[in-house]
Formats: sequence, C-alpha cells, structure tokens
Amino acid sequence: MKAFRSAVIGCGNISRRHTEALTGSALAELVAVCDIREDRAAAAGEKYGVSYYTDYRDVLAREDIDCIHICTPHWLHAPIAIAAFAAGKHVFTEKPMATTPEDAEAMIRAAEAAGKYLGVCFQNRYKFINAKLRELVLSGIYGKPIGGKGIVTWFRDVPYYADSGWRGSFETEGGGVLINQSIHTLDLLIWTLGDPTGIRANCGIFSELLEGKIEVEDTATAHLRFDSGATALFFASNAWKSNSPIEFEIQCENALLIATDDALTIHHADKRVERIMDTTPKTDDKSYWGNCHSFIIEDFYASIAEGRPFAVDGHEGIRALRVIDGIYKASGFGPRA
Ligand SMILES: NC(=O)c1ccc[n+]([C@@H]2O[C@H](COP(=O)([O-])OP(=O)(O)OC[C@H]3O[C@@H](n4cnc5c(N)ncnc54)[C@H](O)[C@@H]3O)[C@@H](O)[C@H]2O)c1
Repeated sequence: MKAFRSAVIGCGNISRRHTEALTGSALAELVAVCDIREDRAAAAGEKYGVSYYTDYRDVLAREDIDCIHICTPHWLHAPIAIAAFAAGKHVFTEKPMATTPEDAEAMIRAAEAAGKYLGVCFQNRYKFINAKLRELVLSGIYGKPIGGKGIVTWFRDVPYYADSGWRGSFETEGGGVLINQSIHTLDLLIWTLGDPTGIRANCGIFSELLEGKIEVEDTATAHLRFDSGATALFFASNAWKSNSPIEFEIQCENALLIATDDALTIHHADKRVERIMDTTPKTDDKSYWGNCHSFIIEDFYASIAEGRPFAVDGHEGIRALRVIDGIYKASGFGPRA
C-alpha cells in the first residue's frame, strides 16, 4: 500500500491530470472520485476502478482517505477545502485557490488549525524552463532584474463560457482571463520578481462576441512596480484567435531571458545568444496548460512524507490572488467595482 490515499473532487476537464498523476505516483493512490454529475463520477470511478460519489461530504466522511484534490469550479474551492480540513484531510487544490483573498486567508487559517497541508496547483513553477529562468535571475549572474513581461493571448468563445455553468460570472468564476487562464503567468512574474507595490491596470470585455454574454474581463493589461525599482508589463486576453504560446521574459541589467514553451533564450549584453532547450517529454496536445501536474503533485506528497514545507502552499497561492485583486481595484473593473 502507498503512503497516502487520495480522492479527486470534480471530474471535469482538468481532473484527468490529477487522476493520472495519482495513478503514476510512488506515494499516493487514487481511491475515490466525486462529481455532482453522476455520469462523470461513474465514468471516472469505472475507469480507475475506484468508488465514486456525488456528494463530497461522503468522501470527507471516509476515515481511510488522507488527501483530497479539488478540481471543481472556483467558488467551491474554499468551502470544500475548509470542510476537508475540518475532517482532518490534506488538500491539494486547483488554481485559483479561491475567488477572493479573504476566502484564501480562511483556507490558510483552516489548514493551520488542522495541522494539515494545503497545496495550490501552480504547476508551471515546476516547468523546467520557468524554474531555470528564475534560478538564473535569482543567482545574480546577469545583474539585478529590472523588468518583467508576461503575455497570454488565447481563444475562448461564447460556448466555452455558456456551456460550463460557472465560467463568465464573478460569483462562480471569481473573474475572467486574470483569475482563470493567465494566473499562472502572473504567478511566475511575482515568483521571480517579488510582490508588486504599485499597480496600474485596465480590464474589460474587449471582444464584441463576448459583450453582453459574460460579466468577467476577457482582456486585462497591467503595469506593476516593485520596491526594487523593477517594473513588469502584463497582458492577457481570451479574445485572440488561437492559444498562442505564453511569453514570459525577465530583463536583467546584463541579459534578457525569454522563456517560451520549450526553450529559454538568453540574449547577453555582448550580443551573444544562448539557448537552453526543455527536453521534458510532452504528455498531450494541451501543452499550453503546461504539463507539470505530476511533478507538483509528487512533490506535494513528498513534502508531507518528509515533514518539510510544501513549496506552493497557501501563502504562495494567495500572492497572485492579491495582485489580481489589486489589478481589479486599479482598473475600476471587477467583482467589487
Ligand atoms: N492547472 C491548470 O493548468 C488548469 C487547467 C484547467 C483548469 N484548471 C482548474 O481546474 C478547475 C476545474 O476546471 P475544469 O476546466 O476541469 O472545469 P469543469 O467544469 O470541466 O469541471 C468541474 C467539475 O466539477 C464538478 N462539480 C461542480 N460542483 C461540484 C461539487 N459540489 N462537488 C463535486 N463536483 C462538482 C462539475 O460537475 C464538473 O464536472 C478550475 O479551478 C480550473 O481553473 C486548472
């Protein structure tokens, strides 16, 4: 028997990344799945040969389950996590950890009160190219970082929102392109440069097709200022024509580092160009999501097993939420506008 017994709550699109990571894990095994849609719960239960449930409280009542993975719509992350901590479980939640910083703080308090681990799925921190870029920047070999850039231009149409039952509304999604699609890239920027202390921003529904169909932003742009003097430019939109590769760049005093899907390109001040390739095998066609779920999930369980802090805990997960809240406030658009 493996060290941890786990359940996945929510059997939609992303759940497969969790069930497959658990199937391949040396430390944790999948023992239950749950979805309010019985067809989805049953299909996942049959596929993996595990029990299935339609009410997550029945999963939490099982004493033999150590950890739950939350793969539900955003507004349910906080209440399910808090109930899971009360039931004595560890929690690994999909991003965003909650729809508001206040809910995220309540999750952190509940985890600490229960003495359980809370992990947040920012799997792109485990992508080789992103981690290498950060390691090189923080090493200082290129001088101080003076700027950052994050660009996410993807395509999401009306059915993507309308058919989901939860996307497109502030109450259930918490926001739009910022809190859902581009939160990973925002997280990479602040993971590398620190938390911004000044934010100027503009958000809105820029696509004519989405106007009147969603209440959340399809496009956001922000200029972030850091105490170090560095600044970052951020642009995210779901109103592009395709899912373009993400751009993540850091300008240091003596080099520009550009991370793309499979390569890190370093433009040195003396005009030399160096390229470091990512040779990690790709798992499927949705490589724009990043394919590192199995890496972060295994590290989560290894952290618990070894009694060491988990690298992407609630205190790390809340950072991007606070910046998103700041972007909404600066733009005058958002759930509290
Ligand atoms: N890490 C990533 O790169 C990544 C990529 C895609 C999605 N996500 C995140 O994963 C989460 C789910 O997204 P998705 O695209 O899979 O959504 P989805 O709508 O495809 O799946 C959500 C599932 O949760 C179920 N559900 C709703 N209420 C429930 C409840 N009370 N109990 C149990 N199940 C319930 C729904 O029936 C649905 O099957 C979101 O937080 C999303 O942001 C993360």
